[in-house]
Amino acid sequence: MLVSLKSILDIAESRGIAIGAFNVTTLEGIRSLVEAAEELDQPVIMQFANSAHRELISLEMIGPIMMYFAEDAKVPVCVHLDHGETFDEVRRALDLGFTGVMYDGSMLPFEQNAANSRVVVEMAEKCGASVEAEIGAMGREEFASVGDSGHEAVEAVYTDPDQAAKFVRETGVDCLACSFGTVHGIYMSEPHLDIPRVGEIHRKAGVPVVMHGGSGVSDDDYRAVIAEGVRKINYYTYSAKFAGDFVREKIAAAKGNIYFHDIAAWGAESMKDTYQKAIRVFSGLQ
Ligand code: 13P
Repeated sequence: MLVSLKSILDIAESRGIAIGAFNVTTLEGIRSLVEAAEELDQPVIMQFANSAHRELISLEMIGPIMMYFAEDAKVPVCVHLDHGETFDEVRRALDLGFTGVMYDGSMLPFEQNAANSRVVVEMAEKCGASVEAEIGAMGREEFASVGDSGHEAVEAVYTDPDQAAKFVRETGVDCLACSFGTVHGIYMSEPHLDIPRVGEIHRKAGVPVVMHGGSGVSDDDYRAVIAEGVRKINYYTYSAKFAGDFVREKIAAAKGNIYFHDIAAWGAESMKDTYQKAIRVFSGLQ
């Protein structure tokens, strides 16, 4: 069942949980995500980061497949654009029927970011979609994408809670991606999260907090940030890495022919397992 980002975040807020927002780049990822969520009977956000993954597949190719699976799902699913960088990209996602869009103006000066985010809120409202925006900088430019070679270092700037409150008042966004110690991609050292900052942002800004760089974080840290108001956790890199590791093991152990569909199925098996482990922690199951 396709639902808006706002309605899925309302579920998270009322239950005091976070919803996993998993980036998809393949049919195997999409299918295994919906299966994982349905088996656990939990809502989920399925998102595509066109800015990072367009070399793997275009928004116009993957978008309708995401929509198909979301509409057919037995649990609430939001189809979301991750890290939209231009109005055109946002427009394209809304035209495909996406029910959530992120506008990422975090590299712009505050006023410009707020003005652009406001425009995106108006665009999305007309389509019944909801908006995520970002202030602060995560400290790493990209999560795992083609070739996974050069992650550019960007200096982390933690989100200021008073600025977050001002930003939400000026823009009317539904949720806010904030910087408090996570980074996109593989962690080079153990992350140390500024957990009280999450609580202060949540209280002052009055909207759900979104954690980017959400894969590779410990279960204790997930629970701690959820207790302080994180309601959407973006997750990609480690699910893709674990699937790659699993395929490597399977190939090493295999006897005889390996067909490409075997590789796709091993990847799907691993991703489903990773998604379920994450969803269990995010929704306080077990
Ligand atoms: P990871 O790189 O930690 O999986 O984060 C993904 C993300 O934040 C997408 O926006």
